[in-house]
Amino acid sequence: MVRVRLTEARETLLVTLYARALDARAAHPVLGDTMAAAAVDAIDYDFSATGISPQMAPTVAVRARFLDGWVREFLREHDGEVTVVHLGAGLDTRVWRVDPRPGAEWYDVDFPDVVELRHTLFPDRPGYHTIGASVTDDGWLDRIPAGHPTLAIAEGLSMYLTEEQGISLLRRITGRFGEGTTIAFDAFNRLAIRAQKLNPAVRLSGATLHWSVDDPHDPVRAVPGLRLRDAVDAITAPGTEELPRVTRLLGSALRPIPAVRHMSRYLRYER
Ligand SMILES: C[S@@+](CC[C@H](N)C(=O)[O-])C[C@H]1O[C@@H](n2cnc3c(N)ncnc32)[C@H](O)[C@@H]1O
Repeated sequence: MVRVRLTEARETLLVTLYARALDARAAHPVLGDTMAAAAVDAIDYDFSATGISPQMAPTVAVRARFLDGWVREFLREHDGEVTVVHLGAGLDTRVWRVDPRPGAEWYDVDFPDVVELRHTLFPDRPGYHTIGASVTDDGWLDRIPAGHPTLAIAEGLSMYLTEEQGISLLRRITGRFGEGTTIAFDAFNRLAIRAQKLNPAVRLSGATLHWSVDDPHDPVRAVPGLRLRDAVDAITAPGTEELPRVTRLLGSALRPIPAVRHMSRYLRYER
């Protein structure tokens, strides 16, 4: 068994990992991430403390599947050599789910101890690299070759950054990779940040959420050359029709309220 000692933002990766594992064990999985289930079995940790129930798990699985779709789309749209940078990867097995073709170099980035844990739990694969760093640090981006179309993708990361850190990260990514860069991530609005104590990951870890993107055009105004390609409300995104009935009914009742509808969004930008 692998023992883990993670706190604050790092500990939240166990919440999403467990949700994907529960989904994989369900009779009709949304994502079917069996590697997540195997990782949970290998980790010595009381996952019941995450507060994630089998009813809540599909919400995380739908989000992961939606963002996997944007990675697959990027790979279809760009033949030849490409780079995928997966920020705040935690213990997500996206690279195995998407299974990129040869010619795609993939970088999973997270804090050094998280990356070390990944190497304990998951095998290596050709074209796959990890970088142990805070995304707010300078320097780590220079370790990733520029000159190919690049996708930077993050799931469940932006809200742990301050707005200043988030915007600076977007600027550094577009500055490093230039034209042909796609950036995709999920973002919370102000209401979701205010309601953070209801979030199981925050309750478990004591982490604090900061950055809200209330208007998807805000990053466009702050980052030279950035264009908004998509802003999709998570509450109505493709895949939500597979959520449990109670979750769907709650979603239908609440989505007429704009602040609720935009609580969590999938954003895709291009430069
Ligand atoms: C909610 S978890 C999501 C993990 C993974 N993306 C997933 O969906 O399972 C948040 C992740 O962001 C990482 N993280 C938070 N702040 C970070 C930072 N400044 N630099 C690198 N990683 C960070 C945490 O270590 C954790 O793995």
